[in-house]
Amino acid sequence: MEVKLATHYGFCFGVKRAIKIAQDHRNSSTMGPLIHNQNEINRLKDNYGVGLYNSLNEVKDNDTVIIRTHGIPKNDLVQLKKKNANIINATCPFVTTPQQIVKKMSEDNYSIIIFGDENHPEVKGVKSYGKTQDDVYVVLDETDLEGIVFKYNKIATVAQTTRKKEIYLKIIDSLILKYKEVRVFNTICDATFENQAATKKLAQQVDVMIIIGGKNSSNTKQLLYIAKDYCKDAYLIEDEQEIDTIWFDKKNIYGVTAGASTPDWIIQKVIKKIKRLNK
Ligand code: F3S
Repeated sequence: MEVKLATHYGFCFGVKRAIKIAQDHRNSSTMGPLIHNQNEINRLKDNYGVGLYNSLNEVKDNDTVIIRTHGIPKNDLVQLKKKNANIINATCPFVTTPQQIVKKMSEDNYSIIIFGDENHPEVKGVKSYGKTQDDVYVVLDETDLEGIVFKYNKIATVAQTTRKKEIYLKIIDSLILKYKEVRVFNTICDATFENQAATKKLAQQVDVMIIIGGKNSSNTKQLLYIAKDYCKDAYLIEDEQEIDTIWFDKKNIYGVTAGASTPDWIIQKVIKKIKRLNK
């Protein structure tokens, strides 16, 4: 039995930064979950007293509020300021960039396309920076462009940080065939990309792939999809308790990787359990 770790895995720069900010602000609360990993959120609560607001109504005047890694909608920020909250911004700088691009391009009268999942908090935040919401469109692939009637002839595009570049290129191809001016901003995060490339490589060398991360984490789910393309026995787990021994039956080489919000202490527990089960 052999356990191989991906060459890039786990916490990205933005998540490390957000956790440090939360640890530095004991007994504050985050606006929405700080990152997509419940185990780490529990650790911050238990060890640092960092709580969670699920809605703006829960915030009281002068509370200290940490803005989550994925950012929040512009109007929520206005509301927090009205409540005189002590605002600590843990938005990943790579998420702030598309927010600012959407603001600027929409002020310059470009119609906006966001490549991403409209229900994801990052995309909701980015979209909110459009001058008017009726000219900002969120698409998952090029087929979603069909039927859209843009207000302006100039289009600007940004992407959710965790999306696949290949699909973004197809969306851009499709736009360029129809419009004279398409401004493309590559806002896809390299940290995600490095984890994805390492997962692709490792999945080709192993019998089983274990992907560790939050089941609501977009970048973790992307790792699962990539792994499944090369290794049919790929599984997504949040922690070592979800390991099923049957996965290892008659298998020799196990690959392990983790999403960008998965802490190292969980990864180590998983590896330890895999080794113990295979003794
Ligand atoms: Fe930021 Fe990229 Fe991580 S956008 S939160 S560094 S995956």
